[in-house]
Amino acid sequence: MKKSILVTGGAGFIGSNLLRLMVTKYPDYTFVNLDKLTYAGNLENLRGLDQSPNYTFVKGDICNSSLLSALFEEHQFDSVMHLAAESHVDRSISNPMSFIETNIVGTVTLLNAARHAWKDDFEGKIFYHISTDEVYGSLGETGFFTEETSYDPRSPYSASKASSDHLVRAYYHTYGMPVKLSNCSNNYGPYQFPEKLIPLMINNIKNKKELPVYGDGKYTRDWLWVEDHAEAIDVVFHKGKIGETYNIGGDNEWKNIDLVELLCDSMDEILGRPKGESRGLIRFVKDRPGHDRRYAIDATKIKEDLGWVPKVQMEEGMQRTAQWYLEQKEWLERIINGSYQDYYKEQYEV
Ligand code: NAD
Ligand code: TYD
Repeated sequence: MKKSILVTGGAGFIGSNLLRLMVTKYPDYTFVNLDKLTYAGNLENLRGLDQSPNYTFVKGDICNSSLLSALFEEHQFDSVMHLAAESHVDRSISNPMSFIETNIVGTVTLLNAARHAWKDDFEGKIFYHISTDEVYGSLGETGFFTEETSYDPRSPYSASKASSDHLVRAYYHTYGMPVKLSNCSNNYGPYQFPEKLIPLMINNIKNKKELPVYGDGKYTRDWLWVEDHAEAIDVVFHKGKIGETYNIGGDNEWKNIDLVELLCDSMDEILGRPKGESRGLIRFVKDRPGHDRRYAIDATKIKEDLGWVPKVQMEEGMQRTAQWYLEQKEWLERIINGSYQDYYKEQYEV
């Protein structure tokens, strides 16, 4: 069956990995990638896909309702995969408003556009909202987040994502909008913006810069290889039930300090440095305000109902990630010096 899919935020980390999978795997589907190209959006993440006949890029904001109506009219979307968001917790602490605008107002604007375009005739339609495990709050030493865990967001980022999840569910219950949701743990892998823990550490290790570990370093995250997440999204999109939520996780918990030490050791090996050298760069720094202690996902539902399991183990994934960032020297340097933002001009405006 053919599908016409609007993907939002496809120039970001997860969106670009998802498009790389979907555009190739489903040549009969058409994909429109709507992305505002904020600091986190990078068309260089999609190099190679621009030539695919079933892929189109549109630069624009999900808060722009007239643009959305025009796109629905032109492309007759039957599906939405909604990833566009402000995504970095530290930025949400220093500038919450852009999180409210994109994550909350943007999501409801998109829901309205879909609802009006579909004229409440939802046969064959899907609105898939991609969210985070951070909406569930913070765990102690034990326990896991299930789909039934009560929401308890504690940062402006997670509060804005929680609001967007509530709005998506409200449109399901109130208007019958055919929604699906998934809440995933921390992703890692190629194309992640180097403000997030793993690429930031890789870049600093490479450049022998200090490695800033917040607080006591014992904060715990459940890490998932980004391509495993992209496959899970594909599975939920095709096989997930309307109105349902699926938790996605790697069953792979790491304390930040252990993870940074693992990265140091694998980078020392790759770079031919003396064993233990990079660990000497670790510095414990001022903690993030309101820092959530532990996230851990119980992914039983997606495993049992949809048959998805993660494929890539942490040691392999970390090796591949470190190798990728070292090989993509130019990609990283162009982000650090800001010139990646010229790519759009070169590609589309000349
Ligand atoms: P990202 O920050 O790398 O990418 C976000 C993309 O959205 C960027 O390309 C940006 O330009 C675009 N965007 C931002 N505001 C926009 C707007 N107003 N209109 C159109 N486009 C806009 O984020 P990511 O890590 O790829 O995350 C994607 C989604 O997955 C987000 O919804 C996030 O909450 C969720 N998520 C992320 C993780 C993770 O570990 N990164 C884990 C679970 C869920
Ligand atoms: P991050 O990648 O920002 O993801 P999130 O906060 O959404 O989980 O951070 C992952 C963990 O690493 C989190 O506990 C904060 C910590 N951290 C540091 O210790 N140092 C850093 O420089 C960064 C960016 C994060």
